[in-house]
This record gives sequence, structure tokens and C-alpha cells, in this order.
Amino acid sequence: MIKFLILIKKIIKWSFLVCGRAYVGINNIEWKLNPRTEFFDHNVDLLQVWNGRGLEAFERGVFNSFFIKKDSLVMELCCGDGFFSKQFYSQKAKKIVAVDYNIESHFFSTQMNASNKIQFMNESVLSDVFWNNLPSSFDNIICDAAIDRFTEEQSEYLFNKISQKLSKDGVFSGYLTVGNSHLTERSFSTSTELRSYFEKKFKVITILQSNHRDRSGLFFALQNFDK
Ligand SMILES: C[S@@+](CC[C@H](N)C(=O)[O-])C[C@H]1O[C@@H](n2cnc3c(N)ncnc32)[C@H](O)[C@@H]1O
Repeated sequence: MIKFLILIKKIIKWSFLVCGRAYVGINNIEWKLNPRTEFFDHNVDLLQVWNGRGLEAFERGVFNSFFIKKDSLVMELCCGDGFFSKQFYSQKAKKIVAVDYNIESHFFSTQMNASNKIQFMNESVLSDVFWNNLPSSFDNIICDAAIDRFTEEQSEYLFNKISQKLSKDGVFSGYLTVGNSHLTERSFSTSTELRSYFEKKFKVITILQSNHRDRSGLFFALQNFDK
């Protein structure tokens, strides 16, 4: 009996692999027709796990989730495809405001990662209009793979806004890739470098580095200094 069940499981797993390949094929066609370099469809990572892609893309979701308390109010800045808000953060949060200025990412997130707990907004995190129309405070503010996209002046603006909107014990956390990409304004190579960058603005709870075969990530969790 057990051998039969394992066989059924293998068949299901193979079907997932076939579906994964088909999904990636569609994704590749989509990129050829309309190269979108700003955000990524993380369902591709999900469907390719059994194909040997690895789980490192999900580290950010796990890391940020450690700091989310049950039924809290969460904001995800620069949410891209909305995958992490849907699959990770909404599992614990009561409500999430997820924002991205890219119209395609907004369309994608509302189509592919909709949830009645998530309010997707199509705004720039560098606009006063956006910040002035939010609830007064959030328990968690998350920003994955985007902090390094802002110039010094923009970061200054953003960090002030984040600090104002973070509740007393609230946590601002996130992830960034080590090194440069074509869209980044600045790069961080080590956890020490990132720590000294944040220390001027926030109380650092932790900064971690995770090294993988072809990419390394830096993870941060910060709080406001006691007022
Ligand atoms: C590399 S993607 C990361 C997406 C997602 N956080 C993730 O981890 O997959 C960076 C995202 O930042 C968004 N972004 C860049 N500048 C922005 C701004 N000023 N306001 C809102 N979103 C912005 C881009 O549209 C893009 O979706």
C-alpha cells in the first residue's frame, strides 16, 4: 500500500514539474513581449522548487514573518508582485497595505495575489499624498529588495516617513541583495556596512547575511529609538 501511495505522490510531483515548466515558459514569453525588469513573479520560484531552484527566494518572507505578531497592521513598501504579502505576511496580519508605484506590478498583484486582507495601492512611496492618506501607525513596515533603489535624499525622506508611521514597538524589516544591479542607486556588501547605514536612523535589532551559490542577501530588522 505504502509503495502505491508513494507512486501516486511521485506522479503528482511530476505533474507539478510539468506545470512549473509550462508556467516558466509563459513567464519567458511574457518577458520577451514586455520585458519588465522592476519586479518578479515569485510563483516562478514556487513552481520551480521541485526543479532544484532552491528556497532562498523565500527567506525574506520567513525572516519578516518572525517580527509580525498575530492580527497586526502591516505595510509592505515596494511590494512588486504581492507574493510575499499574500503567501507570508497575510497569514499573520489582520490587514496589509501593500504599495508599489509600477502600474504593471499593481495589475499583477491584484490579479494574481489578491486577498481580502490586502489593500494594494498604486502609489510612489516618495509621495506625500501616499503617506498622508494612511492609518496613523503600523506594527510592521516591510521593504524587500528595494531599499537600495533610492538615492541618499530619497532614503532620508523615506526613513523619516517610516519612522513616523511605525508604532511604539513596531518593526521595520526587510531584505536586499548584496551588490549592485542595474536599478540600484547604492549597494551594500557586508552586514557591517548596512548596520552602520541604518544605525544613524534606527535602533538595530538584527542584521543578518545569508550566502547562497549565486547570490547573497542581507536582512534587517529595526525599531525607532525610544522617544
Ligand atoms: C526588486 S522589486 C521587489 C519587489 C518585492 N518587494 C519583492 O521582494 O519581490 C522592487 C520594487 O520596488 C518598486 N519601487 C521602486 N521605486 C518605488 C517607489 N518610489 N514607490 C513604490 N514602489 C517603488 C518597483 O516597482 C518594484 O516592484
